[in-house]
Amino acid sequence: MNEIKVGLIGFGNIGAGVVRLLHENRQTIQQKVGQNVVLKRIADLDITSDRGVDVDDSLLTTDVNQIFNDPEISIVIELIGGYEPAKTFVLKAIEAGKHVVTANKALLALHGEDIYAAAARKGVEIQFEAAVGGGIPVLSAIKGNLAGNRFTSVFGIMNGTCNYILTRMTQEGADFGEVLQNAKELGYAEPDPTFDIEGTDTAHKLAVLASLCFGTRIDFNSIHTEGITGISGIDISYAAEFGYRIKLLAIGKRTVDGQLEVRVHPTMIPLHNPLADVNGVFNAIHLTGDFVGPVLFYGRGAGSNPTASAIVGDLIALSRSITAGIQGRCNAPLGFMDDAVVNLPLKPMEDIVTSFMLRFTAQDQPGVLASIAGVLGKNGISIASMVQTARHNGGKAVPIVIMTHEAEEGAIRAALTEIDSFDFISEKSRLIRIEDNLE
Ligand code: HSE
Repeated sequence: MNEIKVGLIGFGNIGAGVVRLLHENRQTIQQKVGQNVVLKRIADLDITSDRGVDVDDSLLTTDVNQIFNDPEISIVIELIGGYEPAKTFVLKAIEAGKHVVTANKALLALHGEDIYAAAARKGVEIQFEAAVGGGIPVLSAIKGNLAGNRFTSVFGIMNGTCNYILTRMTQEGADFGEVLQNAKELGYAEPDPTFDIEGTDTAHKLAVLASLCFGTRIDFNSIHTEGITGISGIDISYAAEFGYRIKLLAIGKRTVDGQLEVRVHPTMIPLHNPLADVNGVFNAIHLTGDFVGPVLFYGRGAGSNPTASAIVGDLIALSRSITAGIQGRCNAPLGFMDDAVVNLPLKPMEDIVTSFMLRFTAQDQPGVLASIAGVLGKNGISIASMVQTARHNGGKAVPIVIMTHEAEEGAIRAALTEIDSFDFISEKSRLIRIEDNLE
């Protein structure tokens, strides 16, 4: 029987998962491809640490060129992550005529266009299911069985670290810092979790998803990105009081006027929204297509085994194409023909219309509410409800929480700037966007 030979660059946690899956499910894969899919070479700077999987030492190398220069290797898996040297390695693999499988959302979000163009020139394919949602097969669905649809929205919870932290803050009333520290100790958060907690990882995933859904290039740096570091227990408990849960959402919407909203920020969603019950390290991604209607994907968005599942799914798809001799015939990594990919304009955040929870910290004295309400009214912002309790007063400052009706974000920001200049305000006021009608 012929074999499809594969080179793996990056032998970390996910790489070990791929090795384990290819080994344990060898027969299943062979039954589905009609050939054996075998790892011929694994390149990493560290080839001595024990990854908990059995690997023949002869496969391991510190010289990545042994993969690029091996004519028997037809598929390269890139699992080193980050921008460089991942970009150089992926481009070298393509230049050497190899198909590429990558889980690298950061690379695709920032340099996807160069990589897709290089693959098209060379007539090889690039697959990246594992880049978004770990084991959840959302990209294949968008490019495959849902491809007949025009998508109007894609949104969801796409970072397990943040969702784990917010879930524990919600369920235990714990502090952000305390949960983050514990998440690091448990291995749920990276030693340097900046990309996760600042929303960057979620924005990378949104950039990839929005490109596939809407057939557009996305300037990654234009995505409004806020993480969860500013969310406090008090925000979570007020949100609950009003019937909401706070989640870090990635939101992509095609607006009726042909613009695109792409934003990542903590969002209050009503308790009846299924995303409110997506807890811990799980991810959920919701799509709406004009014919299929709403579709919700749910599953493990990270971790060695789920991510390996997505990577091997890509390997199998490529192996089938190679076996059938049809690889590279329709090289459309975004699911759209190259000349159909457009540059949809992004809607500025000031123009986004949604409702808000505003939290002010003010001295408890006559006229404060009237002044705040006056500024909101002057800016055309209508109050839906409000609560002022003496929880934190200690005799002085109290939280005042106001829920607004829908308003333009620009008006809200102007109002907060004016309100924060009042002497009776003792902390910078907070806003959290509310999405009551995501669909
Ligand atoms: N660090 C990501 C998460 C997984 O916490 O979901 C990889 O994208």
